[in-house]
Amino acid sequence: MLRRFFIPESIAVIGASKHPDKLGFKILKNVVDGGYKGKVYPVNPSAEGNILNLKSYKSISEIPSPPDLAIIVIPARAVLNVVEECGKKRVKGLIVISAGFKEVGEEGKKREEALKEIVKKYGMRMIGPNCLGVIDVVNNLNASFAFDMPPKGKISFITQSGALGTAVLDWAAKEDIGLSKFVSFGNMADVSETDLIEEFGEDPETRVILLYMEGVKDGKKFIETARKVALKKPIIMVKSGKSTAGSKAVSSHTGSLAGSDNAYNAALKQSGVIRANSVQELFDYAMAFSCQPAPQGKRVAIVTNAGGPAVMATDAIETEGLIPAIISEKTKTSLREFLSPAANVHNPVDILGDALADTYGKAMDLVLSEDGVDAVVAILTPQVVTQIPESAEKIADVARKYKKPVVASFMGGKRMEDGVKVLMKKGIPNYPFPERAVSSIKAMVNYKEWKEKKKGEIQRFDIDRAKVEKIIENVKKSGRKTAGDIEGREILASYGIKIVESFLAKNISECKEYLKKLGGSPVVMKLVSPDILHKTEAGGVKVGLSSVKDVETAFKEIMASAKSYKKDAVIEGIQLQPLIQGGTEVIIGVSKDPQFGHLLMFGLGGIYVELLKDVSFRVIPVTDVDAGEMIEEIKTAKMLKGFRNISERDISAIKDVLVRISQLCVDFPEIEEMDINPLMVLEKGKGVIAVDARFSFNI
Ligand SMILES: Nc1ncnc2c1ncn2[C@@H]1O[C@H](COP(=O)(O)OP(=O)(O)OP(=O)(O)O)[C@@H](O)[C@H]1O
Ligand SMILES: [Mg+2]
Repeated sequence: MLRRFFIPESIAVIGASKHPDKLGFKILKNVVDGGYKGKVYPVNPSAEGNILNLKSYKSISEIPSPPDLAIIVIPARAVLNVVEECGKKRVKGLIVISAGFKEVGEEGKKREEALKEIVKKYGMRMIGPNCLGVIDVVNNLNASFAFDMPPKGKISFITQSGALGTAVLDWAAKEDIGLSKFVSFGNMADVSETDLIEEFGEDPETRVILLYMEGVKDGKKFIETARKVALKKPIIMVKSGKSTAGSKAVSSHTGSLAGSDNAYNAALKQSGVIRANSVQELFDYAMAFSCQPAPQGKRVAIVTNAGGPAVMATDAIETEGLIPAIISEKTKTSLREFLSPAANVHNPVDILGDALADTYGKAMDLVLSEDGVDAVVAILTPQVVTQIPESAEKIADVARKYKKPVVASFMGGKRMEDGVKVLMKKGIPNYPFPERAVSSIKAMVNYKEWKEKKKGEIQRFDIDRAKVEKIIENVKKSGRKTAGDIEGREILASYGIKIVESFLAKNISECKEYLKKLGGSPVVMKLVSPDILHKTEAGGVKVGLSSVKDVETAFKEIMASAKSYKKDAVIEGIQLQPLIQGGTEVIIGVSKDPQFGHLLMFGLGGIYVELLKDVSFRVIPVTDVDAGEMIEEIKTAKMLKGFRNISERDISAIKDVLVRISQLCVDFPEIEEMDINPLMVLEKGKGVIAVDARFSFNI
């Protein structure tokens, strides 16, 4: 429980100062000006008498009773001693504003470790170090050095960047966007983003949780916590540091490890967190979620006094994958009764440039009452007679009658100010452009769909774990870290994945023998050499050989090209496999992400993978539903569902392999990377066959 940070009974400000230009003064003043009702103790060894009319203390030990919360704003080198004193005094929570820790290199890192130890020793909790502090608007607590208290609302904002935090707070005040709580957590030495998500999940004063993150602290814990909380309330996150260059900037900024963007996208999808691409989008969405009900479906209607913007909104509805609502004949007739004949009573409902506030009200009422409408965008542009604030009043009042989301796009600048104020006060989010209004509705639709969809289960299969242990043991014993296709396929087979039948031949006569054994149908021959990883590149793969003569020639050719590819390569022989016909090649792979662990990948195999990068990712473990979505998500999924002359493929067999690989990676954390390329996918009902596999281990 982190309640102590938001409603402490008493607060000590350590480093409080009399000098108005010192941070220690500003923070104390913020606590006082914020309207905090509990006891406040300024602490400063050199300050005599009172600061801001409060009796000041030379040290924390002199304070008559233990304060619930201590805000520490002193030079980094003095922090450890003071925190030790706080522990002895039985302080419960610490906000360490001071910088000079992990973010400044080796010495700072050591200092932070020592700080963590002390905090742990005394069972305290700590936000920071290197942070801006905490604001609880509802409880009148401003324990930060931000300038002002933002207006009161239902949005709680957690930020890794303090500087961005100050900018957002200032902007929120100007835009009249209400906040409930604000936390800048700095280096996350103790309290992390997941602790705060959990706390705000329980907080009745928080309806929407916003996050600005550069890197999460513990990927697995993040997914677990966010998934739980997102079922109760929306979590929206901006994750910066997407590009490689950006990632570097992040590591030097707060010293946090930036995970790959694919892993983040997957993790956020799996936990139901809504990803915003910018801080603007973060608040666009937050406004809609914090003050509008969830849409029941994706049919969106537009009410407008201008044609052009309505066309833009309609385009946006299409691009976002929403559905333009259809207005019934009955409603159209009612609309015609008071609109001029030139008005458009289809969606977008265009009430024309001379529409007054009353007309807006009536039209909105009729459109909202329509069963086929799930959400409405009210667009208004400033025409000569437009009653801007009055129309805003009408729109907001009518909207309140229905349990459907209404968002507005009052387009313009100066002339719109009064209208926008009315909208914001009455809980109608306004967006200066209709695309942003539509995109916010889309975010609400997505969230609702995620909340309601089946999440699936993590299945456990009956497999031969001991066999895999043995194979990995063998790899290790022979001083390798990788397993090629023969061992790789054995691992797969132990986990119930069907593999291609295969014989290892040492010479031409053995090849001929196996050709017979395989019943005369065409075969594939492949080089087996521990020194040659990529067989095709070394001319080591020949497909579709049916006769003894073919096999003889292939044998010679493979041997010759292997020798010329790598003169001293050890050649163990040649594998013969039946040629799998009529299969579609897909790839299933695993890599390791520093923050989220094993990341499962799926895509169409062969040359397509490299060329199109049409792949999907999920963090392991994956549920059966996740596996299904991975397949659906790739752009070429249609090719698996039956396309032109290719019949439908066995998609459920692919799903089965995905979840089995997930289990394999859970059971063997030492797997660093693996891929099955190709997995041959046969017709629906006929299954899949793993043809080629490769593993590498951290052993
Ligand atoms: N048994 C088989 N049946 C049908 N086609 C096959 C078979 N084995 C291989 N192929 C075809 O040959 C291609 C290359 O084979 P394979 O994946 O085994 O070798 P590779 O990819 O060159 O080796 P590596 O993955 O080690 O670099 C496959 O993508 C597939 O098109
Ligand atoms: Mg291959």
